[in-house]
Amino acid sequence: MPAQPSAESLPHRSVLYQPIIHALRPCSPGYYVDGTLGAGGHAWGILQASAPEGRLLGLDLDPHALEIARQRLSSFAERVVIRQASYTTLKAQLKELGWPAVQGIILDLGVSSMQLDQAERGFSFQQEGPLDMRFSPEQKTTAADLVNRLPEAQLADIIWRYGEEQLSRRIAKAILLARPLQTTLQLAEVIRKAVGGRGRLHPATLTFQALRIAVNTELQSIEMVLPQAMEVLTSGGRLAIISFHSLEDRLVKQTFRRESRDCICPPEQPVCTCGHKASIVEINRHPITAGEAEIQENPRARSARLRVAEKL
Ligand SMILES: C[S@@+](CC[C@H](N)C(=O)[O-])C[C@H]1O[C@@H](n2cnc3c(N)ncnc32)[C@H](O)[C@@H]1O
Repeated sequence: MPAQPSAESLPHRSVLYQPIIHALRPCSPGYYVDGTLGAGGHAWGILQASAPEGRLLGLDLDPHALEIARQRLSSFAERVVIRQASYTTLKAQLKELGWPAVQGIILDLGVSSMQLDQAERGFSFQQEGPLDMRFSPEQKTTAADLVNRLPEAQLADIIWRYGEEQLSRRIAKAILLARPLQTTLQLAEVIRKAVGGRGRLHPATLTFQALRIAVNTELQSIEMVLPQAMEVLTSGGRLAIISFHSLEDRLVKQTFRRESRDCICPPEQPVCTCGHKASIVEINRHPITAGEAEIQENPRARSARLRVAEKL
């Protein structure tokens, strides 16, 4: 069995690693999907636990991440298939592979530590880089396009909606007065001047989150993948989703709640007319979170929320 590299040597530490393996219960010969392959940490665990015959499809938009994952998972040989693609193409990818149904799917949403650490990707407000924020270089719209081209009201709306930033209008106004803006630190400074300090949270945190979500159409992608994931799971198969902020978690929670109910008529309606049938059962009603030891080792784990559902 290939050895897992030490956590310190990895460009990205997988969060909630054990809970994910525990939730998916990988076995041989099973079919699994990691829709957000990243550096391949969770995928490594799934492949190891499903030896000798378990197979895994790994998807990611980021070619740099895929290069790292490819190397890391190379010893699993033909048991792993890696594709540069969005998880929104899940159904089509499985059809092409001739995998009719899978036993487990993981989505570990958002940005990886290695993406944040690469200043030239523009995800971090702490390092100088271009205002990019695309997961894939093939995407057309960058953060600079949004920041420099959108009308003030639309920019404020993005910052409000995807950052849940109370001071979105003030920030959008300041951006309009300062543009064109080219770099992350320029933008962070404009925000800092507009809204001042905020205790532990950097004043640009929520705006950067909002721009990243908008650039990568992250919430729309989650909405697209959830029905596909529930459809391609085999009966008893499991879907495990790690989210990092309330917007993502809310989407996952609401979908799991709805799809685990036999009737979705309004509660005041005396007789069911919807005909809806439950297709999943929620394994945990409350999200699984990281323990103190994991948070100590990997502060990014603090905001991770894991929800797991099983197909009926
Ligand atoms: C938190 S990281 C995953 C880390 C991985 N679980 C590990 O253990 O190394 C999230 C990854 O999802 C990718 N990603 C984001 N949106 C995606 C999408 N729509 N389709 C495929 N990958 C996506 C990002 O490029 C990033 O590499």
